[in-house]
Amino acid sequence: MNICVIGTGYVGLVTGTCLADFGHIVTCVDNNEEKIDSLNRGEIPIYEIGLDDLIKRNTKENRLFFTTDLKKAVEPSLVVIIAVGTPPQEDGSSNLNHVYDVARDIAHLVDGYKVIIIKSTVPVGTGRKVQQFINEILEQRISPEYLNSNPDASSHKPHYDVVSNPEFLREGSAIEDFMRPNRVVIGIESDSALAIIKDLYRPLYLFETPMVITTIETAELIKYASNAFLATKISFINEIGHLCERLGANIDHLARGVGLDNRIGQKFLHVSPGYGGSCFPKDTSALVHIAKDVGCDLKVTSATIEVNKNQKLMMIEKIADLVGDLTAKTIGILGLAFKPNTDDMRESASITIIDGLQKRGARINVFDPVAMDEAKKVLHNVTYAKSAYDAVKGADALVLLTEWNEFRYLDLLRIKKLLKQPLFIDLRNVYEPERIKRLGFDYVSLGRGSVRSNEKVNSKQ
Ligand SMILES: NC(=O)c1ccc[n+]([C@@H]2O[C@H](COP(=O)([O-])OP(=O)(O)OC[C@H]3O[C@@H](n4cnc5c(N)ncnc54)[C@H](O)[C@@H]3O)[C@@H](O)[C@H]2O)c1
Repeated sequence: MNICVIGTGYVGLVTGTCLADFGHIVTCVDNNEEKIDSLNRGEIPIYEIGLDDLIKRNTKENRLFFTTDLKKAVEPSLVVIIAVGTPPQEDGSSNLNHVYDVARDIAHLVDGYKVIIIKSTVPVGTGRKVQQFINEILEQRISPEYLNSNPDASSHKPHYDVVSNPEFLREGSAIEDFMRPNRVVIGIESDSALAIIKDLYRPLYLFETPMVITTIETAELIKYASNAFLATKISFINEIGHLCERLGANIDHLARGVGLDNRIGQKFLHVSPGYGGSCFPKDTSALVHIAKDVGCDLKVTSATIEVNKNQKLMMIEKIADLVGDLTAKTIGILGLAFKPNTDDMRESASITIIDGLQKRGARINVFDPVAMDEAKKVLHNVTYAKSAYDAVKGADALVLLTEWNEFRYLDLLRIKKLLKQPLFIDLRNVYEPERIKRLGFDYVSLGRGSVRSNEKVNSKQ
């Protein structure tokens, strides 16, 4: 099948590459020339495990192409996938300009039948508006005035279907998530489009992937509801983490004890400095906004957002309380990306925390295995170190912010020697408190009071 994917970011590039790997012929389009040029040179603009090899294999086998020429990509394609960004606006709503611009461009280009898939995360009603824009342009294209002034134009109105197919991949495991999703959600109204979508995802039948086939509106809302629920789990456990600290309980044991209940599940119950990334902050705010527009006050999601904002600010207080007056103190930060295995810095807790520490006079040394180039676009007046050890040299405290695997096996005795004072603030609960304390550190993590032996879990961690 010939497919065109518009928007070659974290979602579009992975989608296009994986569909090419399924055996389809895919052209990825972006209006960012630099990005397309680098892809055509074989340089991958984002960090995503396994993506590099998959792109190389599929371009070599002539199934994957990159271009800025929308016409060239859309014309031969049966399926056109919109995967452009829908960034947040000041009021929390989503900016849909990219989606609507692309929809209008497609409407000028469609000729024969096309299935137009909206993969970007968009508010309920966007699919309908896209249909409306395309219809208006197609009507203009067959109007007598247009045909008179464009004698070569066809008087035949092209047929098309709009489908909502939100994406659930996670950065850091995007290929695995796309190739083996928990489910595929399809908001659709036409049987012929459904047959094409089923064909598009045929390799997933091997794994008996469930397909949720529903209306366009429901599909659009499923994406927001899923992200809001996951974000709520994170804010909930972060709040309970503070309670654990006050009561001398252990959040890690608690999360395990709670999460082993099948009705709850263990995932997304890890205490943290707050969720970030391009999805949860944006999608929770957008959901509250979508609901407000129809007179619904989403109290749980609003509280989730509030708790998360406070969580990031409370981390600044925590560090300041432990280090003391931050003026001219140096803090060595390990990890900048919003989570491990990605270079994405969007809404990362590190941005808020570093900004807060700097405002109190701290000097900041940072190290992240892959996100430093992205970090340079948003973090200023920080020293970018060459390694974790370089970052903590002469620092008054080490703060672990992103739990990259390489930070799980630090040479702690070397770290201790490099630090000005042995203060280790672990905001991801990577290390065992007793072990670190035995090495002579002042070690502070989240939600872990004193651990008594009778609390120890027969753990399979
Ligand atoms: N990043 C994620 O983990 C994730 C997961 C699921 C869903 N989503 C959703 O998918 C969508 C895309 O997210 P992303 O993270 O890939 O965004 P991104 O910012 O990484 O990529 C968007 C791309 O679209 C391109 N673009 C914008 N306007 C264009 C136009 N008119 N023509 C061609 N290209 C254009 C941009 O240049 C950019 O390369 C968003 O709606 C997001 O909410 C993201």
